[in-house]
Amino acid sequence: MSNMAVDIAGIRMKNPVMTASGTYGFGREYGEYFDLSLLGGIVVKGLTLKPREGNKPPRIAETPAGILNSVGLQNPGVEYFLENELPFLRKHDVAVIANIAGNTEEEYCAMTEKLGASVDGIELNISCPNVKEGGVAFGTRPESVYRITQRVKACCKVPLIVKLSPNVTDIREIALSAEEGGADALSLINTLLGMAIDIRTRRPILSNIVGGLSGPAVKPVAVRMVWQVAQAVKIPIIGMGGITTWEDAVEFILAGADAVSVGTANFGNPFAPVEIAGGLKAYLEANEIGAIGDIKGKVMI
Ligand code: SIN
Repeated sequence: MSNMAVDIAGIRMKNPVMTASGTYGFGREYGEYFDLSLLGGIVVKGLTLKPREGNKPPRIAETPAGILNSVGLQNPGVEYFLENELPFLRKHDVAVIANIAGNTEEEYCAMTEKLGASVDGIELNISCPNVKEGGVAFGTRPESVYRITQRVKACCKVPLIVKLSPNVTDIREIALSAEEGGADALSLINTLLGMAIDIRTRRPILSNIVGGLSGPAVKPVAVRMVWQVAQAVKIPIIGMGGITTWEDAVEFILAGADAVSVGTANFGNPFAPVEIAGGLKAYLEANEIGAIGDIKGKVMI
């Protein structure tokens, strides 16, 4: 029997398959399809200090092998989450990670303090491309990544995962700044900034003009970035970006990921993360690999 369990900086998961923030709400819809305890971890929709309505529609556009979104962090706020959504998630044997986004460093810290040790980990979202203040503005310069990571880490009672943006020149520099700032783990990639135009109206399809591209279209970029970051840092990596099949997940782990997150694939196939976990286990057993960690970073260059 191959061992699928992973430990991401103290977050113990029965398998390395998580769900990516922004594609999983707070788990309720998907819990109607299968037992959420089959997952390694759930990363909830990005939370802000106060509720947000998000950007004006249209805010989703289908693109070849992907989706452009400019949701703008629609969410009910961290207090609502703690009172009304977390108790549901806690009925399941699954790691719960809160993704948080703020306009200011103070907001990130206030949310971290409110969450305390109620969740298994906090994912610092400094990579959302769809908001005017905060979001990716914190995530594209090494100094600001270092500073915000250090500030949040100082008040964080659970492992801190920093979610990186691919919209940078050298992701290794950003990853190193997060590690130096005290990040316990990294997750990458968030979406790639993109744009789509309706040729009949000659107007951008998204009301926000630009949005974040996700789905299979971004997978080779994500694999490349996970590989580069894995060479640069010592902390664990959660890889994501277009993972749709267990073969995709193996690719990310060979590139250097300790765990993987499934995002856009959930929209077309709610069973995707469960199927990927099953496929990974079958792959390990068919190849007589003792543990999932045995193939981490084992791409042969
Ligand atoms: C959004 O709500 O705009 C997407 C979140 C993200 O990209 O982090």
